[in-house]
Amino acid sequence: YPKAFIYDLDGVITDTAEFHFLAWQKLAEEINISVDRQFNEQLKGINRMDSLDRILERGFSGRIFSNTEKVALATRKNEYYLKLIESIDPSHILPGIETLLQKNKERHIKIALGSASNNASAILDKLELTSYFDYIVDASKVKKGKPDPETFTTAASALGIAPDDCVGIEDAAAGIESINKAGMFSVGIGNAQHLAAADYLVEDTAKLLFEDLIACYSKR
Ligand code: G6P
Ligand code: MG
Repeated sequence: YPKAFIYDLDGVITDTAEFHFLAWQKLAEEINISVDRQFNEQLKGINRMDSLDRILERGFSGRIFSNTEKVALATRKNEYYLKLIESIDPSHILPGIETLLQKNKERHIKIALGSASNNASAILDKLELTSYFDYIVDASKVKKGKPDPETFTTAASALGIAPDDCVGIEDAAAGIESINKAGMFSVGIGNAQHLAAADYLVEDTAKLLFEDLIACYSKR
């Protein structure tokens, strides 16, 4: 068995990836930039400021924005996002996730969060999942966001577990890249068009079964 599972939050544990998309889309519309689902794939897993940079580059390629302007825009996006997550409760845990966490516990497999979000701990609390986690990596714990491996390597070293004994679970291309660079077994939630680099891929969390995942991990 692996010794640790490191979970991404948004789009893996709960569908806040959709709320991030809606909040960015609203902000972008207000400054006349179109953000569609296709473009949004490039934003998944990317931290707040880097996401904003990508959106501004799409709309105003080459134009320089002051840090004050950028902070104001990022803050506005986060206000929209906070409104959207206000009513999150345990019913918003994606199918299969709590079963997987329970199986980790039964097998004494450590559990960590590997999220780029500043809102990660608040969301885990709202979902009432915090007590499952041995360690939480959020935006405050890393210098280099995904696709840099730092998010996942930070979690593994805090748990004292070698990367080769870790499984990382992600819905974002940047996240899969981060797990692979960390030298861990990568599990993708989504489709092969975006997540072809995943070691193991399932369409959605309902299809993420502990036994199947372990069978594939053992053959790696
Ligand atoms: C996660 C999401 C991204 C989001 C980032 C920062 O990685 O996948 O879509 O931009 O967190 O979230 P925050 O809550 O700090 O703005
Ligand atoms: Mg995600």
